[in-house]
Amino acid sequence: MKFIASPGGQLSGDIRVAGDKSISHRSIMLSSLAEGVTEVSGFLEGEDALATLNAFRAMGVQIDGPVDGKVTIQGVGLHGLKAPEGELYVGNSGTSMRLLAGIAAGQDFTVTMTGDVSLSKRPMERVAAPLRLMGVEVETQEGGRPPLVINGKGKLKAIHYDLPMASAQVKSCVLLAGLYAEGETSTTEPAPTRDHTERMLNGFGYPVAVEGATARLQGGGKLSAMHIDVPADISSAAFFMVAATITPGSQIILQHVGINPTRDGVINILRLMGADITLLNERVVGGEPVADIRVRSAELVGIDIPVEQVPLAIDEFPVLFVAAACAQGTTTLTGAEELRVKESDRIQAMADGLHILGVDAQPTDDGIVIQGRGAEEVVFGGGEIESHHDHRIAMSFAVAGLRASETITINGCDNVATSFPNFVALAQKAGFKLEQVD
Ligand code: S3P
Repeated sequence: MKFIASPGGQLSGDIRVAGDKSISHRSIMLSSLAEGVTEVSGFLEGEDALATLNAFRAMGVQIDGPVDGKVTIQGVGLHGLKAPEGELYVGNSGTSMRLLAGIAAGQDFTVTMTGDVSLSKRPMERVAAPLRLMGVEVETQEGGRPPLVINGKGKLKAIHYDLPMASAQVKSCVLLAGLYAEGETSTTEPAPTRDHTERMLNGFGYPVAVEGATARLQGGGKLSAMHIDVPADISSAAFFMVAATITPGSQIILQHVGINPTRDGVINILRLMGADITLLNERVVGGEPVADIRVRSAELVGIDIPVEQVPLAIDEFPVLFVAAACAQGTTTLTGAEELRVKESDRIQAMADGLHILGVDAQPTDDGIVIQGRGAEEVVFGGGEIESHHDHRIAMSFAVAGLRASETITINGCDNVATSFPNFVALAQKAGFKLEQVD
């Protein structure tokens, strides 16, 4: 599938973007392990979250839905999962594979997980290493790639793990395995990463103590069913935040967006660049902070992105690079080497695409330097872009169309369905001139 982004357009209206992907995954995982029936609303009906849902169905959990974002899960308790009949195929979803690895470690059966072409190239040694320390036999392919085979061990050794990289997936994997360990399992992270696992475990009545960079839990407790209201995903909202910012005369309200302080780097970075973003009706829903976000167009300036914001905006850099191209002056990103091992090498994929559209973007080992063209009326030329089957690269270049002089064609957009299945329809409603061609 291709996207054709025609030049021009202006954004207006109130929209609610897709449900939070990270919270949707965790809602299925933890409710499956809970005792009792959990109802989830606002669930992301995207391929990634559905991959997690199907994996738990394959392990014997009765799950009804999703219907209009509502899912009902009959929890089986920490020890109620059953051996799946075959391999668990989790598609494009790193979160499914890495978090499930932690849960599979505590079972008394073997789980083999496979993924699509992109996931099959991504590093899994980062979860295999701590799980081996906990006493589990883990097999990967050469270079620590999937398929990932976890020979579950029932009772695990509790460990303290100092994370070598800022990764919520690795942290969550270890903490979830810790549910099955004897004694206290703890993690210390080099920089704050999304804490949805810790918050949701507490919500299910399973105490997780967090002190600074360290999270601790005791094995052998139990989770009690609850209701989960999944907010809209700030990572999906980010495309509309940048779109409204860079398109003169725009104003948009994004409803019910999760603004967890471990995820709000995109707001902080855009504000540092001069964006006009206001949080309205701030509230806490099911332990997660939520707001309606009003964005008005603004002129941006290039900045050195503060390195402490990097893990807080890790999924939003592709679209932040589009914002940087629309700013006056140079924007420099450092400390973001993790971007090279996402669904694609996002530094290279964005630099290549920006070059095609006439923007000077120099990749570095751990970031990029972008010469903003904000002083020009038209920032991007036209051209044909490869998304590398990466959902966020595809949507980022669709946003660039709003400030382009000619049509931008984006190849390989099928995977937008992994995180934001109704992106094109919402973008059209909000004022993008965007078409999808099968
Ligand atoms: C996620 C953590 C991040 C993020 C991914 C979702 C999660 O990955 O990029 O989209 O839900 O825990 P890393 O843990 O690799 O940083």
